[in-house]
Amino acid sequence: MHYFSYKDRELFCEQVPVNQIVEEFGTPLFVYSSGTLKRHYRIFEEPFSGAPHMICFSMKACSNLAILKIFSNLGGGVDIVSGGELFRALKAGVPPSRIVYSGVGKKSYEMDDALRSDILMFNVESEEELQLLSQRALALGKSARIALRVNPDVDPLTHPYISTGLKSNKFGIQIEQALEIYLKARDLPALEPVGIDCHIGSQLTELGPFMEAVSILRKLLKKLRNNGIDIKYLDIGGGLGIPYDQETPPAPGDYGAAILDLVSDMDITLIMEPGRVLVGNAGVMITRVLYKKSGLEKNFVIVDAAMNDLIRPSLYKAYHSIIKVKKSLDQAPKFVADIVGPICESGDFLARGREIEEPFPGELLAVMSAGAYGFTMSSNYNSRPRCAEVLVDGSNYYLIRQRETYEDLIRGEKVPSHILEGK
Ligand code: LLP
Repeated sequence: MHYFSYKDRELFCEQVPVNQIVEEFGTPLFVYSSGTLKRHYRIFEEPFSGAPHMICFSMKACSNLAILKIFSNLGGGVDIVSGGELFRALKAGVPPSRIVYSGVGKKSYEMDDALRSDILMFNVESEEELQLLSQRALALGKSARIALRVNPDVDPLTHPYISTGLKSNKFGIQIEQALEIYLKARDLPALEPVGIDCHIGSQLTELGPFMEAVSILRKLLKKLRNNGIDIKYLDIGGGLGIPYDQETPPAPGDYGAAILDLVSDMDITLIMEPGRVLVGNAGVMITRVLYKKSGLEKNFVIVDAAMNDLIRPSLYKAYHSIIKVKKSLDQAPKFVADIVGPICESGDFLARGREIEEPFPGELLAVMSAGAYGFTMSSNYNSRPRCAEVLVDGSNYYLIRQRETYEDLIRGEKVPSHILEGK
């Protein structure tokens, strides 16, 4: 459930008319509801309240400082995957004791920054990474708490680009090799194996794959403890899906209850890395209709947001519901069209063959469920400045990222002097 709804045919975010926000900040624009963010966090956390746990928001889903701070205020941590994300998390005031660091390609300077910050745990994805982390920790006189990210070879039944827990994926350490590599880790200097980690994929709409993966981790945990490795944390990753269209993902309460059922006798602190489920439906992208073209075969609605602003439809053929910010009368004619952006690629679309109320130039459309992997995956392709982001809180709203300017587009670029002189 989210706090975007119509009042008298006009779309509101909480108590603020979306139109009012657009008048101030223009389009395209991301608008987030802080009430929804907090509500989702609480609902997700609720089933775990009686058990030791930590919610480490997977910040790649939406990494604006204001949003990180909202979750941090609620006691949350973050799952990071780069030095840049560590930088953001620390800027937002997330305590390092609530940061876990995943990712297959950590560089040594990124490890150094995380070691110096004394983050909670590195989720190590290969034996080579383990060696490098041990060297870096030793060089800095630190000790690194680690988990191995194991790959349990479970099919998450989701889009192939966002499946991560299969043998054929680049992620993690094969479950069959895990014990051997944990024993190596134990014997390497400056490493402290304290956890097991796994993340099998994103936008999962069934409980089964989660259960299967956690059952596999359970067996591994027993083996590790029998070998004297004191596992304190079980990090089960993220992946819980949200309804974009007709999907019916498990409710967070059912997900939580099922997980707890499997781990309650394990004497561990559970770590979860939810991304999409916390932010997906808490954000929308607002775009303005520029033109309408009726072809012989198809209708096109050309809007001012494009694949550089929201790449999910182009990249995954993802469905995002698109609605009018000001609804027409009930009898408004239906219209089937491709809703496309100004970018020079045929793959630049927000929706294809979509039936919507016929939109007209100048009207505003809301692309729903754009809070996760929306702004964070945006780019400057076609030299388009990235969108502004606005956070609504009750009847107030705040600019949390200003729209980029043309000057922002060329920041850091330099023309060598001989080229400048025409040579
Ligand atoms: N933990 C790890 C290690 C991850 O790689 C991810 C997401 C998550 C947690 C959070 O997963 P979530 O709860 O959001 O499903 N760009 C794609 C999604 C990529 C997910 C990458 N990893 C999309 O727009 O659907």
